[in-house]
Amino acid sequence: MKTPVVLGISGSIRSQDKHFKELYQLILRADSSGTLLASMQDSGIVFANSDIALACSLLGARQAGADIKLISIKKIAKTVSQSYSSKYSKSANPSLFPVGDATIESMLDKVRNATGVVLASPVYFGDRSSVANKFLQLANHHGVLAGKVFGAVAVGAKRNGGQETTLIYCLVDALAQGAFAVGNGPATCQYGGTLVAGEANTVYGDTWGITRALELGNRVGQVSSLIAWGQARSQKRRLNIQVLMAMDRPDKKFRQVAEKYFAPVSKKHEVEFHDLIDHPIARCHACDVCPYAGKTKPGEEYAYNCKVRSKTDCAFLLNKAMMNADALVIVGINTADDVIYRYQAFTERTRYLRRDNFQLTNIPVIGMLIEELGGTNNPLHQLKVVTSYIRHNTILISPIKITMKDDRIVHQTEQGRILEQLEIVRSGRDLSQGQAVSYKAEGYAIKKQETIASVRK
Ligand SMILES: Cc1cc2nc3c(=O)[nH]c(=O)nc-3n(C[C@H](O)[C@H](O)[C@H](O)COP(=O)(O)O)c2cc1C
Repeated sequence: MKTPVVLGISGSIRSQDKHFKELYQLILRADSSGTLLASMQDSGIVFANSDIALACSLLGARQAGADIKLISIKKIAKTVSQSYSSKYSKSANPSLFPVGDATIESMLDKVRNATGVVLASPVYFGDRSSVANKFLQLANHHGVLAGKVFGAVAVGAKRNGGQETTLIYCLVDALAQGAFAVGNGPATCQYGGTLVAGEANTVYGDTWGITRALELGNRVGQVSSLIAWGQARSQKRRLNIQVLMAMDRPDKKFRQVAEKYFAPVSKKHEVEFHDLIDHPIARCHACDVCPYAGKTKPGEEYAYNCKVRSKTDCAFLLNKAMMNADALVIVGINTADDVIYRYQAFTERTRYLRRDNFQLTNIPVIGMLIEELGGTNNPLHQLKVVTSYIRHNTILISPIKITMKDDRIVHQTEQGRILEQLEIVRSGRDLSQGQAVSYKAEGYAIKKQETIASVRK
């Protein structure tokens, strides 16, 4: 297998692209974020904060065994005209997506040749920069992010300045384009790198943010290896797809819709449905000691390590199925009718899986929404699946949507690409030696005592 390539893209207008050759060498020579940041500061170059965050991510990717590449996209802001009308601009360009432009073609080729992509952006109005946005538009137009591992880092001047919203929007767009989206992995397992600094070249002191940027690159690098193995040796196989109906009407109207959607898939794969409305779900007790390994014997597979011991409880019943899945499809409904809603209670109960050294590591998760036109009760379901389940160190896959009008399906996501993605992850995980994954509580005075890592594929 070829070594995976992780491409770092800086989306700041302040990016020091003319010094990127030098920056690339600094990343290659560094053996830690400390030496990297010291050498960047010693260089005398006034880097954009996004460049600094990106350099740390690429060091993380390199440490995970990936080859790295580094580009700035600030020039695409000049190449793609800001004006489409000659009324106000001499350089007006009526073409939305210019063909044959050397800057853009070179950028697209670099994305095509990469296994993984890290996008670094400043936070502008709680969102990515217009340059980073232009990249995502071009990527969508040319379909270059499909099948790539995608992660992001964001730098804003303030704590809570919109770093998280920026990352979430990037992840959602990359998912829509067919990428495998990941967060920053353990320790914190959130949406990516969140860094705080205002003036250019000042983010060096944000040790916490720098660590998250490094982790993000590391996770993109690791998952890129998995995907590269999977792409090289992908085999058609019987996938184990677990469909969790997290809400429904009492007559299970929407389970029938989901069953119909998966009927062609069920011919080749094992598709198992679970109606969460049928089972009691005890709310998470927020125990200090979690995971609770009371009944677990050493080496026991699929151990259920939650203090709620009821044998009829939904989390107890689904424990093994979730850990053993090749895909978890979490179905939500957006309708004008009332539905029985079990998503929140169920999701909070999965805390013990996360705290048990991220039991769901690398399991592909898909948010599926069945939406009736005019629905009002749950419009954000797929977004919520992204933001909650990325915390389980999973790999997010393009969401599925079924749109209905007057009880008729008027549109539904095609299944082919999703199955292909799942087959690649399964093959990659089979070939993986696994990696050490450990959970350590952040923000709690009472830390989990035992921090022995688990090997997760
Ligand atoms: C137009 C504009 C909008 C901004 N909006 C935000 C914001 O919403 N939240 C925030 O924390 N910082 C905001 N900032 C500050 C930048 O995110 C911050 O300076 C960052 O370090 C820039 O990264 P860079 O050095 O990579 O360009 C904004 C800056 C500009 C110029």
